[in-house]
Amino acid sequence: MNESAKKKLLQLIPHALYILTAEANGKHAASTISWMTQASFKPPLIVLGVRADSVTFEVLKQSKNFVLNYLGEDQKAIAQKFFKHVEPIDNTIAGEPFVPSPLHKLPVFTHMAGYLECTIVDIVEHGDHAVVVAEVLEAELSQANGLLLLSSTGWNYGG
Ligand SMILES: Cc1cc2nc3c(=O)[nH]c(=O)nc-3n(C[C@H](O)[C@H](O)[C@H](O)COP(=O)(O)O)c2cc1C
Repeated sequence: MNESAKKKLLQLIPHALYILTAEANGKHAASTISWMTQASFKPPLIVLGVRADSVTFEVLKQSKNFVLNYLGEDQKAIAQKFFKHVEPIDNTIAGEPFVPSPLHKLPVFTHMAGYLECTIVDIVEHGDHAVVVAEVLEAELSQANGLLLLSSTGWNYGG
């Protein structure tokens, strides 16, 4: 295989950036995620690629539910705060205030662009990232501005 073509083409897949939140047995996940796409209209399904050895995946497997907070185009500095594990302090995570989501009381960052509240319907464990298939149960759009696109950040995740 042409390794450099493979790397470049995979990095060219467009992605936005999100903060995923979940909680199980008192342990939280709050992580910057880029590998996400829609996978079905009915039911509304999305798929995520989640690092198999991450705290986030450990929490997700137990919680079965998560919130995907959409970052706005001017929120690169916030994305950077969730590259490593952080636990909530009162009603903030990494200094970002949140409110509970409607169904499973998971952190929703109201100053971000919107969120999806999801429940996991399947997990495919095959590579260094697990494929998490989830149904969208709730959604809220907070601001109509653009989203934070991975391509605009100068960061890479993929290849
Ligand atoms: C630009 C960028 C995009 C990322 N996208 C993903 C992703 O799609 N899936 C994932 O599992 N981790 C992704 N990560 C890594 C997580 O942000 C990070 O590993 C995780 O929050 C920390 O792992 P932990 O859950 O063990 O604390 C990305 C990191 C960066 C810098």
